[in-house]
Amino acid sequence: MICSIFWSTVFTININRLISFNIMHFTDLKTVPVGDIVAENYHAADIFREYGIDFCCGGHKTLESVTSQNGISSDDVAQKLLQVLESPASISENYSSWSPGFLIDYIENTHHQFVREKIPQILAYAAKVAKVHGERHPENLEIYRLFTQLSKELLDHLEDEEENVFPLINSYINGEGSTDKETYLAALKKLVDDHEEAGAIMAQINDLSNGFTPPADACTTYRILYQNLEGFEQNLHKHVHLENNILFKKAEAVLA
Ligand SMILES: [Fe+2]
Ligand SMILES: [Fe+2]
Repeated sequence: MICSIFWSTVFTININRLISFNIMHFTDLKTVPVGDIVAENYHAADIFREYGIDFCCGGHKTLESVTSQNGISSDDVAQKLLQVLESPASISENYSSWSPGFLIDYIENTHHQFVREKIPQILAYAAKVAKVHGERHPENLEIYRLFTQLSKELLDHLEDEEENVFPLINSYINGEGSTDKETYLAALKKLVDDHEEAGAIMAQINDLSNGFTPPADACTTYRILYQNLEGFEQNLHKHVHLENNILFKKAEAVLA
């Protein structure tokens, strides 16, 4: 809680100062966790995507640290971020201002529904592409295996959130939390670990598919599969961001 308030305060002060006075040094922004930057304004996610920076599972890392890990100029990224952050997010995208209960409803009605709708479609495409093109492009056999594994893990994960952890968060938010704090925090940590695992599998699929780029001889189903996988990854990143960087921070804050 203290850490969260601290970073939130630092972030607001730094952004306001940098924007208000148009200071062209970005040292302060570089010390802010990337997940907090996206939580402030989701349009920042476009910049992180452009540079291949993980803002969801790795959202706790500072801008300085992720740019240095990826061999990217932190000044370039900071400059682009400030341009984006000058335009406030619309109310419908200002997720940080939403109540935990509303955020949970939104996550379930959009992201969980999306995962449940897309998994059977993508599995069918992946199975077909693996069967037809697996010999010439064997990476598709591994993509099918990995997506099958991811599907099972994600569906179990959604059930755990909907049946156990989200009701637990709601009970704490409403002041009715009867589970001990250690169990409550451990339940949140388990979900964060699941996200890490899912993100790692999706990153492997991204690598194997050469950034979801079909080869020149790809048929329509092949192209549709890669388009769907790319959309699935993008949706998963936002889903994990909303949970790790916004919902779970709010859920932990009620303990303070
Ligand atoms: Fe979820
Ligand atoms: Fe989740």
